[in-house]
This record gives sequence, structure tokens and C-alpha cells, in this order.
Amino acid sequence: MIELEGLTKRYGDKLAVDGLTCTVRPGMVTGFLGPNGAGKSTTMRMMLDLDNPTSGTVRIDGRHYRQLHNPLRTVGALLDAKAIHGGRSAYNHLLCLAQSNGIDAVRVREVLDVVGLTPVARKRAKGFSLGMGQRLGIAAALLGDPQILMFDEPVNGLDPEGIHWIRNLMKSLAAQGRTVFVSSHLMSEMALTAEHLIVIGQGRLLADTSMSEFIAQNSRSFVRMRSPEGERLRDVLSGAGITAVPAADGALEVHGEDAEHLGELAARHRITLHELSPQRASLEEAFMRLTAGAVEYHAHPNHQARPPEAGWGADWQKKGS
Ligand SMILES: Nc1ncnc2c1ncn2[C@@H]1O[C@H](COP(=O)(O)OP(=O)(O)OP(=O)(O)O)[C@@H](O)[C@H]1O
Ligand SMILES: [Mg+2]
Repeated sequence: MIELEGLTKRYGDKLAVDGLTCTVRPGMVTGFLGPNGAGKSTTMRMMLDLDNPTSGTVRIDGRHYRQLHNPLRTVGALLDAKAIHGGRSAYNHLLCLAQSNGIDAVRVREVLDVVGLTPVARKRAKGFSLGMGQRLGIAAALLGDPQILMFDEPVNGLDPEGIHWIRNLMKSLAAQGRTVFVSSHLMSEMALTAEHLIVIGQGRLLADTSMSEFIAQNSRSFVRMRSPEGERLRDVLSGAGITAVPAADGALEVHGEDAEHLGELAARHRITLHELSPQRASLEEAFMRLTAGAVEYHAHPNHQARPPEAGWGADWQKKGS
């Protein structure tokens, strides 16, 4: 279990983490979400004592990180996969970590196997691709067989097979009763992996809730109805005091009513339906809605890629030709 209490970090006049109080519990994957610059990596660094909090505390199983005897055996983490000595082989990198933490060398081969790096174990890490480096970082996190695991953007650079693998790895670690804390920008991925969510924006806690509650609270659910008798359906709905909003493809969207009730209403009036589908808003939609006010770094619409005949692209082409 990881407990944060009033955790705060200030860099000059920038308040990176602002009084975070929450608990990351064992037996489930907890997703850590927030827009760019929200303070996720800073929080994780403070959890591992790599950064000193300005105020507040972090407790790992009731103790401060620095009080842990063999930290890698209690908490394994992947924060920055590039933080390795490039001249060392994957095997030697892990062996070095194992020896300094009282971990048997046999475990090095085991974790290399788990992450699929056995064939390149003797190759120098500096020649590794992004995904291979990420796998090596995950191997280091697993090395001490810790009860607590922390991953900062672990699927960065992984191919679809790798993403699938890490999703199942995290779920199985959680199913073994471990605490798994993972940050990610891939909302669709989080929706498949995490059971609980902690969401921050500009360093402040925005939500600490189960995935299903988070989606239900922060997004609209509605029912899509499509009928060859669209006009009549709309009249019937309106006669029952139900507002239907036409969608671009000719379907109707109804908010605040369940699909069963709408289906029965249509049946009573003998209206054929080609579609009656409850729409659950995605985690991505819920996240965007919740963090809309806390996004610091916006892309400027004028700077998006444009076809060459439009805007500055055309000027640039003229100047370049
Ligand atoms: N060492 C540092 N010195 C000064 N400011 C820092 C430092 N580290 C982080 N910050 C600032 O703290 C804020 C939070 O950064 P952090 O890296 O924790 O965000 P994040 O949520 O991990 O973002 P991302 O999703 O982009 O990884 C940012 O405004 C960042 O510029
Ligand atoms: Mg980060």
C-alpha cells in the first residue's frame, strides 16, 4: 500500500504537486492519469525518494522509502527506461542491481525471460530500441519480486504485442495481491487495465475513484435509436415527454432514459427499430471532460498540419521553390 498525505512539491514559483492525499491499494491496478505537466512523474519520484517533498509525506507499507531495508524487494519501479548505463549488457545491468540489493543472480535470468529479452541479454543496452529499453526497465522493476510496483508510462514505445503483454502482466501482478500503480496517456489502454483511478490536474487531486464510477460521473450516457420511421419515432418520444436529438447519421440520441423503456415504447406503437444501443462514454471522453480546466499545454489549432495549398504551408512552398 502507498499512502500520500498532503504531498506537495514546489519548483521555484511552480507548484508541481499540490497537497495530494490518497492511498494506492493492493490487489488492483490503479491508473494514474493527468494531462502533460500535471505532476505525475514528480509524484512518483517523491514516492521513491528521488525528489524531496516541499511538504507532506509518502509511506510505503507504513514506512518512508529511506527506511526500507532492501528497497527493490519492497517496491519496484520503472520511471525512466533510459536511466541505464548504455555500455552495460542487459544481463550485467540487472546483475548489478541484484547484487546491490541482496537478490540472487538466478532471478536475473528469470526476469529477462519474463520480459522476453533473453536472446539479447548479452547485448549492450545502448543499442536497444525504445521498446527493448522499456522491457529492460520492467525487468528491473520485477527483479526483487516486490509487493508494490510503479510504472510511469510503461507502454511508451511498445508494439501491440508488447502492450497486450504488459496489460496482462499488470493484471496478473495485481491478482496476486500486489499494489500496481501505473501512469499512462493512453486512455483506451487504461480503461482495459485499471480498476481504480487517481486523476490529477495542475498538481491537485481531481478524482480518486473506481473506473466505472469515474466514467459514470464524468460522462454522459445515452441511447442511440435508429428506425426507418424516424419522424414517427420522434413524435412518439416527444408525446411521452422524451427529448431525442438527431445525430449526423440520421439516428436519434436519447439522454436520461434506459434502453428497455425506449424499446418497449417503440414496440407499443409498432415502430420498427434497426438500432437500440446504450452508449457508454469512453474513459477518454470522461478524462477530457474532467481535466478540461486543468490542461496547461494546448496545441494551437493554427499550427496543426495543413494541406500544402493552405496557410503558411503554401508560403513556405513558394519560398522554398
Ligand atoms: N526538476 C524540475 N525542475 C523544475 N520544474 C520541474 C522539474 N520537474 C518537473 N517540473 C515541473 O513540474 C510540473 C510537473 O511535471 P511532471 O513531469 O511531474 O508532469 P507529468 O504529469 O509527469 O507530465 P507528463 O504527462 O508530460 O509526463 C511541470 O510543470 C514541470 O515543468
Ligand atoms: Mg511524466
